[in-house]
Amino acid sequence: MQANFIDNVGRPASSGLSIPMVDPSDGQAFDAIGRGNAIDVDDAVSAARRCQERAWGQLPAADRGRLLMQLSVAVTAHADELAAIEQRDCGKPTRQARADVAALARYLEFYAGACDKLHGATIPYLDGYSVLTWREPHGVSAHIIPWNYPLQIFGRSVGAALAAGNACVIKPAEDACLSVIRVAQIAAEAGFPSGAINVVTGYGHEAGDALVRHAGVDHISFTGSPDIGTRVAQVAAQRHCPITLELGGKSPQIVFADADLDAALPTIVNAIIQNSGQTCSAGSRLLVAESIYESVLERLALVFRTLRVGPAALDLDLGPLIRDTQQQRVRRMLAAAQDSGIQIVAQGQIVSQAPPTGFYQAPVLLRDVPLASPLAQEELFGPVLASMSFRDEGHAIELANATAFGLVAGVWTQDGARQFRMARRLRCGQVFINNYGAGGGVEIPFGGVKASGYGREKGFEALYGFTTVKSVAFRHG
Ligand code: NAI
Ligand code: MG
Repeated sequence: MQANFIDNVGRPASSGLSIPMVDPSDGQAFDAIGRGNAIDVDDAVSAARRCQERAWGQLPAADRGRLLMQLSVAVTAHADELAAIEQRDCGKPTRQARADVAALARYLEFYAGACDKLHGATIPYLDGYSVLTWREPHGVSAHIIPWNYPLQIFGRSVGAALAAGNACVIKPAEDACLSVIRVAQIAAEAGFPSGAINVVTGYGHEAGDALVRHAGVDHISFTGSPDIGTRVAQVAAQRHCPITLELGGKSPQIVFADADLDAALPTIVNAIIQNSGQTCSAGSRLLVAESIYESVLERLALVFRTLRVGPAALDLDLGPLIRDTQQQRVRRMLAAAQDSGIQIVAQGQIVSQAPPTGFYQAPVLLRDVPLASPLAQEELFGPVLASMSFRDEGHAIELANATAFGLVAGVWTQDGARQFRMARRLRCGQVFINNYGAGGGVEIPFGGVKASGYGREKGFEALYGFTTVKSVAFRHG
């Protein structure tokens, strides 16, 4: 049974209750976490406050950077252990689990180097005045982390918050939080002061809600579903607590007739099967120019039929989904789609070694999905690619922008002028031209518009969100 991690020590949840940790590959419980509540959250927020006002807050920026770099090195030294934890907890194929650890180390490295480069400005003003700005940390920064990429999201949000001088309280998802607890322990071993990084595990409606309501929390970073994100933002607004929301998407891959398909198609497949489609930036819609629609679907069908799904440790193309309810949701939406006449072009195979108690879902390629269909509008978080054709560039833009979301878009075309026009007209937070995701790029700001949320994480830009600006005006004559 895993305890909370507060003030650099493990503290059992005050409720005495636990939540089983289930391995998605076989559906069996293999560990348990504490069912944290408002008492544990209060403990963690107090620890963070003490640390922020003293040890962490008073540490010179360069020293914060050194500690973050030590944590990055320590994460790499523990890479095999962390990848094994993440694999079992989330059902991630080995390559994905390892990539997530490498991304965490890279985030920490990036933010280590950024600590002493974040500064304010001096502002020209009236004669007799000197005006400057300070970028100050919010103070206690709360992080509500989902289960799809616990390590990576820890890196991008906790890494940036610490770099900016905040102390953190983290509420990882009840479905997957073991790696986050372990990283907090490793940080303590690497020399982080007590209270800089605190973890409270538990359900969203208990520990998560208590954290959002706590008057001692000065900023919230939330990644998860639009429904819960909306609720969290409403609660935060009651006490004027600033918040960053990353709420997923229904991101399009847009393929023009002049696209280099040899480059595009493998990337398009990867962008929907990675982490079994449970990625906020998954490329879950495929928009293809009419003239090449049939040939693109034929080529993709060949690939989809070769895809293999199975236990995470087998390191196949896809592992299981996170839990039974996600599996049921994907199955239900696929059944509804077929009832409404949407055709499956091709699907992959679940291998025979996959235990029937695991949460497996074969990747599915759908064609002619109507724009109004839930499969073209809602985030599914499963390996399902919804295709449709477009007539011309204007139609492509119209379809691409016609969902509530606006996170990512991929554009495949050789025409330079069209690349720019598309990049300008797509309503989303990041556009990838002839690539998708730019290999992860921790340097690249990331976030959405519309229902995908607001605020930016990743890159230097994230540091602005984890600070507040104080203007200081001196009148000296
Ligand atoms: P969720 O939004 O319920 O969970 C995300 C996090 O929020 C978890 O840590 C959870 O404990 C916490 N949470 C839940 N209720 C809360 C509350 N009242 N106050 C504070 N924190 C709370 O997401 P869920 O149910 O696990 O997944 C449902 C769907 O959400 C997925 O199918 C997917 O479409 C979307 N999602 C999107 C993610 C993204 O990366 N943008 C990540 C996870 C889910
Ligand atoms: Mg939920």
